[in-house]
Amino acid sequence: MKKIVEPLLEWYLKNKRDLPWREDTDPYHVWISEIMLQQTRIEAVLGYYKRFMERVPTIEDLSKIDEDELLKLWEGLGYYSRARNLKKAAMMIMEKYHGIFPSTYSDILSLPGIGEYTAGAIGSISFHLKEVAIDGNVLRVYARYNNSDIDVKSDKIKKEVGSKIKDILPDNSGDFNQALMELGEVICLPNTLPKCEICPLKETCKAHKYHKELELPRQSIKMDKKEEYLTVFILIWNKKIAICKRKDGLLKNMWEFPNKEGHLSIKEVKELFPSSSIFEGISNTHVFTHKKWYMKSYVVSLVDKIGDYEWVSLEDIHNQYALPTAFKPFLKNISK
Ligand code: ADE
Repeated sequence: MKKIVEPLLEWYLKNKRDLPWREDTDPYHVWISEIMLQQTRIEAVLGYYKRFMERVPTIEDLSKIDEDELLKLWEGLGYYSRARNLKKAAMMIMEKYHGIFPSTYSDILSLPGIGEYTAGAIGSISFHLKEVAIDGNVLRVYARYNNSDIDVKSDKIKKEVGSKIKDILPDNSGDFNQALMELGEVICLPNTLPKCEICPLKETCKAHKYHKELELPRQSIKMDKKEEYLTVFILIWNKKIAICKRKDGLLKNMWEFPNKEGHLSIKEVKELFPSSSIFEGISNTHVFTHKKWYMKSYVVSLVDKIGDYEWVSLEDIHNQYALPTAFKPFLKNISK
């Protein structure tokens, strides 16, 4: 694979995307962008990153941020434990490393929420450490370049690929790691026709030679997701809407609309909220990593205030409260 180093670096240095976290190699900038990039596409991260850096420009600011505000900044990105881990790691950097981002691989890896991929990315980009950063893009490029039917979901394979790539890692490891990822993101595309005609590795890519690009990487068997049914209540009283905080489990500490397990009929909802006017709202399906929620909703206009809820305006929800994406569509039920 040594043959890929030069053409790949040359391609990257000429074509790399102009991204805000590439303006410097400050480990704080690299860290935040890498964690965000694990959640969603680059285009979607741009807005989140800008807002985050405006509000939380330093590690010290992050270590002191109020959790609700942090979750609001993260709203829509998903995996909220990652946001909480950012704060935990920032606190650890303040306490243990006097506010200076650590510069050895093992110290970086010891921070909450930082795994091998992120430690390798920060270590190579910010500190020129000879460490790899193996993500799904790199595994796809590797599988295709070698025309290999490896199971890219396997941790053992990830380790093996990491060690092969480490063997060819040049001094500018940060550029090289980013070049491999970027090739996977803009040329060696998943689920669609890759752009082999403009790929810097096309001369030596084995999948290209044998026309196997579309068959690789081999698909592993999909895990069944647990399916759950929920009925969501948009309770309205005095022009305010009821929200509450999730106590534990999935989406812990995020705000939600009151809800109940199962799909309730309008008759059952009337029994729960007597003497209120009720109409059926929209339905939504939300897919998490290990779960799938089928949600239906009812809008309930109450005469009297009930329950232990936070009563808020639509504007408050938009500006202040972190509402997970799964619940966002139900806002369409409510008009001002
Ligand atoms: N995807 C995630 N992180 C990246 C990076 N640093 N460069 C290119 N693509 C990426």
